[in-house]
Amino acid sequence: MYKYIKIENHDKVLLIILNRPDSLNALSPDLMSELSQILNDYENDNNLRCAIITGSSKAFAAGADIKNMMDNKFVDNVVNNFIGNWKVVGECRKPIIAAVSGYALGGGCELAMMCDFILASENAVFGQPEINLGIIPGAGGTQRLPKIVGKSKSMEMVLAGQSRFMEAEEAERIGLVSRIVKGDLIEEAIKTANKIAKLSLPSLILAKELVNKSFEVPLTEGLKTEKIYFHSLFGTSDQKEGMLAFSEKRKPSFKK
Ligand code: CAA
Repeated sequence: MYKYIKIENHDKVLLIILNRPDSLNALSPDLMSELSQILNDYENDNNLRCAIITGSSKAFAAGADIKNMMDNKFVDNVVNNFIGNWKVVGECRKPIIAAVSGYALGGGCELAMMCDFILASENAVFGQPEINLGIIPGAGGTQRLPKIVGKSKSMEMVLAGQSRFMEAEEAERIGLVSRIVKGDLIEEAIKTANKIAKLSLPSLILAKELVNKSFEVPLTEGLKTEKIYFHSLFGTSDQKEGMLAFSEKRKPSFKK
């Protein structure tokens, strides 16, 4: 159905596999437009509750497609809003897990950071080597990365580029990666996604929105919104079911 991406349904989980092996999953405009379409469909499909984006064992994605963009001109980038559609990933309201093996470089690292959390193989490598190409990161490398790992690590990765790749162990230690998976990464990602997919969708959507909001707004405003959302969730049948199930010592069966 898609040329550069494979998708698999695992019950309520959508597994999205970037599939341009010849270019280490370089994120060409065509690939990203397929990904946007897939995520729009995911967002609108009430049967799907959690998505996983992954690549191959060698590369999650080695960045934006350099060969494709090398002749781009400033004016065309502006007029055509080059890489503008990448924001679909960060704006998706439902959960998305990045399952990273091998290279997550440039736009690949940025794509992983747009997801809600990153599970990584032991061979995962993160980096922002755009500076080696005479450009800078363009999809969050200078903005999301410092919010996740702080100024010093970000500056070194962004300014030293190719000579400052970060391996999985360090990435986990400083919080870029949620955890390293020693066994089968995809199996573990699906297992994790399935647990999330069983939970109440309104809670998942609002929880995700609030955590992301914490990066954007002052603490008092974030806390105020959190309280309103917390109060409002008592209006759902899933809250009644969740608490009843707890008191009856059984597993909840969420309807939404
Ligand atoms: N774009 C286009 N093609 C790419 C690519 C990319 N980002 N990364 C790798 N490829 C291609 C290579 O050109 C090569 O193709 P050919 O066989 O046709 O020559 C193929 O994938 C395999 O790559 P290598 O032979 O280079 O593999 P390697 O194992 O020796 O090296 C690597 C792996 C270190 C990841 C190296 O490929 C590399 O440095 N890639 C570029 C990484 C990069 O600079 N990413 C940033 C891109 S800019 C960006 O992302 C902007 C943004 O912020 C949005």
